[in-house]
Amino acid sequence: MSQVTEYSEKVMDHFSNPRNVGEMENPSGVGTVGNAKCGDIMRMYLDIDENQVVRDAKFKTFGCGAAIATSSMATELVKGKTIADAMEVTNQAVMEALGGLPPVKVHCSLLAQEAIHAALWDYSQKNDVVIEGLKAPVNDIEETEEYYQTPGE
Ligand code: FES
Repeated sequence: MSQVTEYSEKVMDHFSNPRNVGEMENPSGVGTVGNAKCGDIMRMYLDIDENQVVRDAKFKTFGCGAAIATSSMATELVKGKTIADAMEVTNQAVMEALGGLPPVKVHCSLLAQEAIHAALWDYSQKNDVVIEGLKAPVNDIEETEEYYQTPGE
């Protein structure tokens, strides 16, 4: 992919109209990851059926526009996929689907990949399922609700 210096229309679209925003009651897997440098946080919820197909995905992102666009696209890409195929939704795949990201924003797409993996890891732990190529999340953060409160609340 050639170097992108500004936001594509797709990035702007997913930033302005993010898909699948919200929480999920009783998710099959949930993962929260953060980037210590920028302080952005992403939480991903997955609903996975008995055939190991992702039925639904939702997210909550407390972060920059690119992080919102990448989490929105990531949820769209994993929906309807098997767990194995969801593992292929890498940050590269998310960036490509968005028409690229400026270099300084690549880490935002990495957060989306890590959030998917953290949610899949949670699912694998709860259901005693081994997911090939999946490692325990490194940037998993404490699951406290504080992060999601508006300052001053
Ligand atoms: Fe950190 Fe975008 S600036 S996730």
